[in-house]
Amino acid sequence: MLRCIDCGGEFQPGAFYRCEKCSGLLDVVPDIEGLKEKVSRELFDSRLGSREFPYGSGIWRFRELIHPLVEDKNIVSRPEGNTNLYSHGKVSEYSGIKDIVLKHEGENPSGSFKDRGMSPGISEAKRLDMGTVACASTGNTSASMAAYASLAGIKSVVFIPEGMIAFGKLSQALAYGAKVLQIKGNFDRAMGLVQESSKELGMYLLNSINPWRIEGQKSIVFELIQQLGWNPPDWIVVPAGNLGNSSAFGKALRELKELGLIDKVPRIASVQAEGANPFYRMWKGEEDVLESVKPETIASAIKIGNPISWKKAMRAIKFSNGVVEEVSDQEIMDAKAIIDASGIGCEPASAASVAGAKKLLDAGVIDGKEKVACIITGNILKDPDATINYHLGKLEGIQPKFSNKPVVIDADLESVRKAVSG
Ligand code: F0G
Repeated sequence: MLRCIDCGGEFQPGAFYRCEKCSGLLDVVPDIEGLKEKVSRELFDSRLGSREFPYGSGIWRFRELIHPLVEDKNIVSRPEGNTNLYSHGKVSEYSGIKDIVLKHEGENPSGSFKDRGMSPGISEAKRLDMGTVACASTGNTSASMAAYASLAGIKSVVFIPEGMIAFGKLSQALAYGAKVLQIKGNFDRAMGLVQESSKELGMYLLNSINPWRIEGQKSIVFELIQQLGWNPPDWIVVPAGNLGNSSAFGKALRELKELGLIDKVPRIASVQAEGANPFYRMWKGEEDVLESVKPETIASAIKIGNPISWKKAMRAIKFSNGVVEEVSDQEIMDAKAIIDASGIGCEPASAASVAGAKKLLDAGVIDGKEKVACIITGNILKDPDATINYHLGKLEGIQPKFSNKPVVIDADLESVRKAVSG
């Protein structure tokens, strides 16, 4: 069942994304009492490494908590999830947090966490027999949707802000066979247009306004806590753009707590880029309504001025006694350089989590002795331009503090000797 977060109106699932009475966002409502009889830590642990479809997936392992309605024949899975946790001395030293782990969602099949929501989203499109799916995107959603739609034999149309998405992501959307519409406007304009067009043209909308996307993204938290032996960290720190993940994390934690699968609720820290910070401003100003901003940041994935899920995300922050932080492009690129040089690697937006954790430690909000899990949302190969231009010192307004420049040498042994010893 779907329930409106504003007026409480209830609906059976279908191809709509807002309350038919008041236009509020919709939640998938789990049957917590029924689920208490069905799920347990042991059940989810018994499915780890399973070869039985679809349980090998890090989403569908938690199937009862993700999409209990969908039958096996409609599940489209690559399979996703099962992403690793990393810790590294460099990241600890940089952030000042001894026990900091990075969960690398860039290890998903299309290179970002989006696959977690896209698998149940496309499965639902199949269940509803939709012929075409659509999304607006800063890049990763479009790459993921294009891949899953082609896998399912469904047509896909993506709306992207022209000239504003990273090349790796654009190349994926084209290669996987989506119809790519480059909008002369930013992401927020594309988001408005895709909602209007989906309604008019009967396309199934797969942005995180679609509640099944949120259901899938809950599995980041389920899997993280399972990997930690069901001992939640003190903090989960996540980059924040359209606020789908922040919303999903709060819902995941609430459900785990209500089901008795965790005793303690970690605090969520949502981290925005300074130039695209409407949620941070709202939280800081203790305002009731989000005021949009004109977004500007090097982290193109989170260059969003009017995030659609702000109400759900605020509910998540309040439920988890969380915080919202902002970080500059310089802080993002410095943190990225550290994550990259640790051999882990990520795209710029992902590094907002580590940059945010460091800032919260410096501000005394996070204690250096607490356990902190930072979500790394996208793969390093998504945005090679940002990485190379950082190391070459070609990013406007960014000091390449940790740059590692290539050297050009003559093709002889003596030059190699000099370069290596130098
Ligand atoms: N990190 C990356 C790598 C992303 O691609 C996104 C969102 C976010 C963080 C922010 O997550 O929206 O849940 O708060 N990318 C979307 C896209 C908007 O179209 O690919 P959020």
